[in-house]
Amino acid sequence: MSTTALIVAAGKGERAGGGLPKQYRLLGGKPMLRRAVQALASHPAISKVRVVIGSGQQALAQQALDGIDVGKLVEGGEERADSVRAGLSAIEGEAILVHDAARPFCPPQVIDRLLAPLEFFEGAAPVLAIGDTLARASDRLNEPVDRTGMVRVQTPQAFRLAALRSAYESWSGATPTDETTVARAAGLTVAAVEGDPALEKITTPRDFARAEEWLLSRLV
Ligand code: C5P
Repeated sequence: MSTTALIVAAGKGERAGGGLPKQYRLLGGKPMLRRAVQALASHPAISKVRVVIGSGQQALAQQALDGIDVGKLVEGGEERADSVRAGLSAIEGEAILVHDAARPFCPPQVIDRLLAPLEFFEGAAPVLAIGDTLARASDRLNEPVDRTGMVRVQTPQAFRLAALRSAYESWSGATPTDETTVARAAGLTVAAVEGDPALEKITTPRDFARAEEWLLSRLV
């Protein structure tokens, strides 16, 4: 199955601080976006990588991706789902992996686990069990939530391209936060495969500091 990776990097990334949108900030000396793209482009099953960027980010993206073949950069939209839609209309192939630039470390084994089920399922997503207690809260704790059977869903998420496209066409709900939400609403079957803590999304200055420490620990 020919597989294209679509990396969405059109967010404003302001919560991370530091002036630049977070996807262009350096992590261990490399822009986070470059790390996310290289992690997927280096997998033998992925034949093409396309990147969705924010308007006005052309120069930043070209600099961050210097020397990597990602074809023409795609311009994204206001919300993440708008950026995914823009990407979906710009790519070809039988299968797609949709991935956040804000998750720069993707182990190749996760991609293996995601692509294998596409023979039988229309999609697959990496999930992690929840170890903490779950509860509703505002300024105080309210009722606990039963965590049995609950998981956290990460990206990349794999789909048969035609199925994901038609799921997005039929989506009429509020802005979805990922593709499994859209796929499930359209009745697609989505396999849950084991995720990886390395795929944690980087959002705040503390996440950046933790990721830098993690990179350093791998050097010793
Ligand atoms: O903001 P958040 O970290 O949840 O965004 C997840 C991913 O979606 C990031 O890689 C971000 O750049 C991307 N995104 C996008 N277009 C938007 C908003 C977010 O491509 N309008």
